[in-house]
Amino acid sequence: MLHDPNRVYIFDTTLRDGEQVPGCQLSTPEKIEIAKALEAMGVDIIEAGFPISSPGDFQSVVELSKAVQDPVICALTRANKGDIDAAVAALKFAKRPRIHTGIGSSDMHIKYKFNSTREKILERAVEAVKYAKQFVEDIEFFAEDAGRADNVFLAQMVEAVIAAGATVVNIPDTNGYCLPDQYGSKILFLKENVKNIDQAIISVHCHNDLGLATANSLAGVINGARQVECTINGIGERAGNTALEEVVMVLKTHHALNLHTNINAKHFHDISSKVSRMMRMPVQPNKAIIGQNAFAHSSGIHQDGFLKHRENYEIINPEDVGINEADIILTARSGRHALKHHLERLGYTIEKINLDQVYENFLILADAKKEISDDDLLTLMSDGEESTYK
Ligand code: KIV
Ligand code: ZN
Repeated sequence: MLHDPNRVYIFDTTLRDGEQVPGCQLSTPEKIEIAKALEAMGVDIIEAGFPISSPGDFQSVVELSKAVQDPVICALTRANKGDIDAAVAALKFAKRPRIHTGIGSSDMHIKYKFNSTREKILERAVEAVKYAKQFVEDIEFFAEDAGRADNVFLAQMVEAVIAAGATVVNIPDTNGYCLPDQYGSKILFLKENVKNIDQAIISVHCHNDLGLATANSLAGVINGARQVECTINGIGERAGNTALEEVVMVLKTHHALNLHTNINAKHFHDISSKVSRMMRMPVQPNKAIIGQNAFAHSSGIHQDGFLKHRENYEIINPEDVGINEADIILTARSGRHALKHHLERLGYTIEKINLDQVYENFLILADAKKEISDDDLLTLMSDGEESTYK
């Protein structure tokens, strides 16, 4: 079914799972702006919303469907006709529509969310897929809380929904519960035990409650999944979803995996800032790939090693993710090498400077201030003009 077995499809759910975060709600024009940025970056599928949830969300899916040309536009539904009808109507203008329907698959959800039985849930799952398939060819089925579901029952459900017409089967770790090993084994179990599995793409959708969303998504991909559901900056319910930028850069960095996406990572810095600003959700400074400190070197040992050869402390070139250059932060932990680097950058001829003396003055200032700016350096140099010059 897949043309390229090594291609991993990127399904972005910033505008659906990401937008569910309290305080992150967006207007339709804002969603369109983000959707266009996702399209320009090369995202394969954009989950545009949950049309039955509100008239505003319905309208956003309509407008996004008109505005976006290349990516598949996906709308979420529960496993019932009303939700599916709303999604079908909202996707009317989509060039490549997809309905994402589904139901709980763990015994926990079956009993305490649906007050039902495995048999009845299976029937509802199949019915929903068959119903949606009458209107849209591309149907993705989500087996909610698959992370905690019994693998044998999950395999039965996946086989039944593929037989009913699902083109993609989403195996969400809804509560971010699994260990990478467990999640990877779950995907492998489905690959090995679902007779018709090759007729659909397996999708991973991992939440970050234990900080394992990216690791679990990768474990899924390594074991045969070929679609990753993720969000910009990893935003999403509770501790968030798998971060798009992390998964893409892991695949780009580890060539031995021999897996690739269509994403142009040079867009990461800009799109991350856009989403953070529009959703009023600051990015933690130490966030992998796009955090403010992701390419900032601050200890003397690291700075010295980096300045000798950047790959000593840099596994990704910041330019590859849209950041102009790495930062060498000047603090009281910095060494002479970093200080020299900045002085030269500011135009000082190092041979004319008593570096030991400047470094001594620098340390006194750096102990008093947390970070030394260019202005601080210029003041330091002019204050000590007599003694710092040979
Ligand atoms: O986390 C989850 O299970 C979901 C589904 C609705 C796909 O977001
Ligand atoms: Zn989710």
